[in-house]
Amino acid sequence: MTEKIIPIFERRALPASTAPLLLEQANGELQDTRARRLHDLRISVTDRCNFRCVYCMPKEIFGKDYPYQPHAALLSFEEITRVARIFAAHGVEKLRLTGGEPLLRKNVERLIAQLAAIRTTDGRTLDLTLTTNGSLLEKKARALKAAGLQRITVSLDALDDAVFKRMNDVDFAVADVLRGIDAAHRAGLGPVKVNMVVKAGMNDDQIVPMARHFKNTPSILRFIEYMDVGASNGWKMDQVIASQEVIRRIADVMPLDALPANYVGETANRWRYRDGGGEIGVISSVTQAFCDDCSRARLSTEGKLFTCLFASHGHDLRALLRGNASDLEISSTIAQIWRARGDRYSQLRTEQTRPAAGKVEMSYIGG
Ligand code: GTP
Ligand code: 5AD
Ligand code: SF4
Ligand code: SF4
Repeated sequence: MTEKIIPIFERRALPASTAPLLLEQANGELQDTRARRLHDLRISVTDRCNFRCVYCMPKEIFGKDYPYQPHAALLSFEEITRVARIFAAHGVEKLRLTGGEPLLRKNVERLIAQLAAIRTTDGRTLDLTLTTNGSLLEKKARALKAAGLQRITVSLDALDDAVFKRMNDVDFAVADVLRGIDAAHRAGLGPVKVNMVVKAGMNDDQIVPMARHFKNTPSILRFIEYMDVGASNGWKMDQVIASQEVIRRIADVMPLDALPANYVGETANRWRYRDGGGEIGVISSVTQAFCDDCSRARLSTEGKLFTCLFASHGHDLRALLRGNASDLEISSTIAQIWRARGDRYSQLRTEQTRPAAGKVEMSYIGG
């Protein structure tokens, strides 16, 4: 009798570089080489943006001839949802939609509704959130909430119109973003987190005015150290204002006390106004890297999986999705990629304080 060999799976059209080595069921407990869990998935839904922030998509590089991904290259909502469901089976509890500007993706509410239906391994809803520049928020806040979005983070780099327009480089007014933030609160997407990237000499005179403006409001303002993401922003260490300095400047006029972290791996260090005026946060990716607890995976617009914001290449999940791979094959691939992960770019840079070459752009991979 001839022996019948049953292949574990048929290779079909799967590319060798991303096909799993062996198949394994997800058990919700993946860890990388530094014992970091896979907890967050950040999904970039478009590489386009209607702003040209000088630290992210400078006009000289992101001009009208910039080669954005064609529509057919983008993961469809069904593809994104399928990947997200597999990530949830691996223990992911938080999804964040990013871009580019995620609200520019047509019918993004439909994607949100699909993602809102996913459950964690123990049956809970996922934490579902989105980071936006706020330009379309006034119009879209209610629909986003109705679709199942839970929270929202809005980028705003200045209160002064001239400074803000210099940062966004498209003449967008502060008042429009503030109206978006109010609309988000009214729609039940609060507390809104407001992210301000601080670039020395560009908007650091806005630190105290921004703190004053958002004190005693439901928004939580967070100051972000300007990072050397991508290759287009010409980053230099002397353009960074350390979080310690941000806190010193605010505490000089409005006393602050440190607060404990909300959860392991939180990007922000939290502070509270001593007079009860609410809380602020500082994100010190440059001066105090938080790689030790980093549990974030990133899915780019066209379906590449990046295990670090600063990674120079991603793993092509789209080839699997469009190559007829089974969920088990995709799940096994993700597990193998995460287990092999050793990234800790910011920590290494803190040790060397110099940017590396060949990194991907933040507008492409998502903040
Ligand atoms: P919540 O705490 O849930 O509100 O979210 P978050 O702080 O993880 O997300 P958000 O998108 O608001 O991140 C704020 C900023 O922190 C980003 O825009 C980045 O500048 C920075 N950041 C977020 N994740 C990472 C990361 O993994 N590595 C580094 N170096 N910086 C990050
Ligand atoms: N440094 C720090 N944060 C950045 N972001 C984009 N580029 C940078 C950078 N060079 C973040 C900002 C923005 C979000 C979309 O991405 O927080 O709000
Ligand atoms: Fe657009 Fe956000 Fe980048 Fe500014 S920081 S260019 S708003 S993606
Ligand atoms: Fe995570 Fe990479 Fe950022 Fe470190 S540099 S916190 S490993 S994404």
